[in-house]
Amino acid sequence: MAPTPSIWELREVTETGSTNTDLLQAAEAGEIAHRTVLRTDHQTAGRGRLDRRWDAPAGTNLLASMYLDMAPSKAVDAMHRVGLAVVEAVAELEPTDSTVGLKWPNDVLLHGTKLAGVLAQRSTTASGIVVGFGVNVGWAPPGAARVHDVDTSVTPAGLLQRVLVAFDALPDDISSAYRAGLQTLGRRVRVELPGSVNVFGEAVDVDANGRLVVRLDDGLMRVFDVGDVVHLRSAS
Ligand code: BTN
Repeated sequence: MAPTPSIWELREVTETGSTNTDLLQAAEAGEIAHRTVLRTDHQTAGRGRLDRRWDAPAGTNLLASMYLDMAPSKAVDAMHRVGLAVVEAVAELEPTDSTVGLKWPNDVLLHGTKLAGVLAQRSTTASGIVVGFGVNVGWAPPGAARVHDVDTSVTPAGLLQRVLVAFDALPDDISSAYRAGLQTLGRRVRVELPGSVNVFGEAVDVDANGRLVVRLDDGLMRVFDVGDVVHLRSAS
């Protein structure tokens, strides 16, 4: 039977390859229900966006995935919800002058540098979506931020509880909250595309499919659904 909406089925393992891969496999085998969450202390094959790896020393960071049995058309919404929930959970730790926000498509920034990443994956056979999130809690790679920069008492398991509570507190329609949290809008950006192609312009909007709308330096309006965005100076 599916859990009631306010219940999360939380599973925790000491080590695994990737929590996203585990939940995708479990969903395909029909072994998990909506709102199953898997957290691990260590991943040996953690997956990042654009086929990158996501690594962290054992026990240092929040590495978790949730299975949401929602229509594929809701994948972008699910991914945005998780990013926003991480933003809210971390913002509570620095309630005044919080500098936590999002960089398109769904990186969480603290003090302008990357704190967390979100990876949504859909199986070809299961009906739902797996959304994984990695948050730097006690360790960060060079140039990135960690939660301990603002609060050294936070543990990965404790932060997960905060993220799940924040997720459930989000409104049904998160479009305005996502736009408000997206520090990319109004910024001059460099969009790094596959194949080492860079384009420059002003990020002006996010469309209904979650694509970034950029006014390029030659005036052309262009939408992007993949790519790495670098925030440059403010466009105004
Ligand atoms: C990114 O590249 O910004 C997204 C990183 C997502 C990493 C998390 S860690 C938990 C979950 N399991 C994975 O293999 N990846 C995601």
